[in-house]
Amino acid sequence: MYKSKKLAQQLRQHIENGKWSLHSKLPSLREQAQNSGLSLMTVMNAYQELEAQGLIYSKEKSGYFVAQSASGQNSQASALLSHHTKIEINSVVFKYLKSIQTQDVIPFGSAFPDPELLSPAKLLQILSQMARHRKNYDQYSNLPPGNAALRQVIAQRYQIQGIAAHADDIVISSGGLDALNLSLQALTQPGDYILLQQNTFYGAWQAAERLGLKVITIAEHPQYGFDLNAFEHLLQQYPIKVCWFMLNAQNPVGFTVRFEIKAKIAELLHQYQVCLIEDDVYEELYYGANKPVPMKYFDQDNLILHCSSFSKTLGAGFRVGWVHAGKYSEHIQHLQLMSTISSHTLIQNALVEFVSSHHYEKHLRQIRRRLQKNKRLFADYLKQYLSCCCEIYDDANGYFLWIKLPIHINSFDLYQQLMMYQISVAPSSLFNLFDTKQHHIRINCSFEWSQTVEKALDIVVQCIQNFKAER
Ligand SMILES: Cc1ncc(COP(=O)(O)O)c(C=O)c1O
Repeated sequence: MYKSKKLAQQLRQHIENGKWSLHSKLPSLREQAQNSGLSLMTVMNAYQELEAQGLIYSKEKSGYFVAQSASGQNSQASALLSHHTKIEINSVVFKYLKSIQTQDVIPFGSAFPDPELLSPAKLLQILSQMARHRKNYDQYSNLPPGNAALRQVIAQRYQIQGIAAHADDIVISSGGLDALNLSLQALTQPGDYILLQQNTFYGAWQAAERLGLKVITIAEHPQYGFDLNAFEHLLQQYPIKVCWFMLNAQNPVGFTVRFEIKAKIAELLHQYQVCLIEDDVYEELYYGANKPVPMKYFDQDNLILHCSSFSKTLGAGFRVGWVHAGKYSEHIQHLQLMSTISSHTLIQNALVEFVSSHHYEKHLRQIRRRLQKNKRLFADYLKQYLSCCCEIYDDANGYFLWIKLPIHINSFDLYQQLMMYQISVAPSSLFNLFDTKQHHIRINCSFEWSQTVEKALDIVVQCIQNFKAER
């Protein structure tokens, strides 16, 4: 056995026997090297192995600390978390997006709604009128924090939901991902721990990779989407700097967390003074009578940065996002000035006119109706043929179905097989980095039902059944 493995095993025993209590400091690398007669590198490897297993955590310039109390005491939490110190996902995402980016592929793997439903005629008309008259090209909207009138319109939409917001709290960004990235960068330093949901939009993993962050994940609660007990355990155990959660029409799993659970999450954030970056880009795509509130609704002490975007309701061509950044607004603007600056002036101006008119609400009502109908048709079709061997997570909002394949089918293999028929699906390896089983897929159900859609879904069903039969 490698010397570092042997040392890691000894240290693990000390932790499990209770020699070191929760949060006590381990000997420094140098002390440990002197005590054991091993090299610094060997000790470092042993510590890193224990850190990757979630048994210890590191704090910059302070050393390593115990993350687990004597055996058994945190078995519940350790069963629910995974812990990743080195994130490498960007090239996987890059290859995946390239592979599905051709016109001939049926885009069930895409994250965007059917473009046919987006880009409303009225908005295009406003845009072309503005472009023709060359008006509203004021250069200041191009600088952070973005167009003042648009920030005002967005702030008013928060106020309608009972959320305190002023135009100065809002920073306009180049889409939702830009808002999320800027927020994470503003709140973290390399080496910090962040908490992600176990299955999370890959943009969060890419951001962690780029910023050199350590990731802890929390599994979804099978019934409620979010596990409050596990959350509290993790807050007690790790020096978590920031959480990045999506709690409305979650991508990829699809759930919307209930009001009471969100209120409790907010209480815990307040108790432990941990910040939350809330990804809410699908906030408008709900199908019940009332819009689910964001976590920002419960924010007592400016710990929550709420990020959203027009890209999912108006299309990728209107990829303008924002963050309700509150007291972090200025910091985010500084970062923006060094990176994406702001989004296109003309589009921001067109959005002011469109979003503040009744046309936006009318458009939202239409797409909600159509998305809900399309999702129902997809779900009914797939359940008819796959209920016998797959679990289909079919939540009320959004336009994704999350399908658990039979245990021996690897979702990446299925994705590759389906690409031979020019059909994309999103395999779980894009959302959950270290799950070795990887047997979920996400299907985008936003497309209008047609013979082409039905034929493609039939091929998806056939491929799953063939994989199953090969067993
Ligand atoms: C969950 C989630 N968050 C953020 C984004 C990024 O939004 P935007 O395209 O506005 O940058 C996406 C895009 O697919 C997404 O699915």
